[in-house]
Amino acid sequence: MKGKIKITVLTEASYKDIINIQKIDGWRHVYYLNENRLRELSKRGEVFYGMYLDGIMIGFAGVDVEIRARLHFLSIDNKYQKKGYGTLFVKELVKIMKTKNIKQMFFYVEEDSPYTIFLSKLGFIKVGFYKNRFGDGWDADIFELKI
Ligand SMILES: CC(C)(COP(=O)(O)OP(=O)(O)OC[C@H]1O[C@@H](n2cnc3c(N)ncnc32)[C@H](O)[C@@H]1OP(=O)(O)O)[C@@H](O)C(=O)NCCC(=O)NCCS
Repeated sequence: MKGKIKITVLTEASYKDIINIQKIDGWRHVYYLNENRLRELSKRGEVFYGMYLDGIMIGFAGVDVEIRARLHFLSIDNKYQKKGYGTLFVKELVKIMKTKNIKQMFFYVEEDSPYTIFLSKLGFIKVGFYKNRFGDGWDADIFELKI
């Protein structure tokens, strides 16, 4: 990992960048964000964070804070994957959540996804599953981290 990292709250001005990053993270997502959906989620209280490397956005995450904080999206540009940026991003988000007095973070992941390894390495533990979570017949694993 080289360069200057900045993690910042995103506004509507970055919606196009968010949509783009999700398209180039190499994963076949169940659904893709568009500007209307981003507006709707933001209105409901979800906060979108961007990760910048030397001024270029290389990743984004959505955090939906209720009693526990739900990490809702997490995408790193394919070109920057497997270099530690995803780990750094989640660790920084955990620090931000701690300042908001949040005690747990959770994330739904498609069952058997290789990304369960990524979450496990960060200390997330599988605490259950959600049947047909995405409406396509696939179950989701629920991963949780005490912070
Ligand atoms: C998942 C994602 C956010 C990880 O970001 P990243 O910057 O590549 O992750 P890191 O470099 O910090 O990897 C940390 C560990 O996660 C694991 N990991 C990351 N990507 C993996 C993959 N595709 N398959 C298996 N393990 C993986 C590795 O074990 C790695 O540990 P190592 O460096 O000791 O090998 C990124 O790959 C991504 O955007 N994927 C597509 C979107 C997605 O599926 N999001 C849901 C995430 S649960």
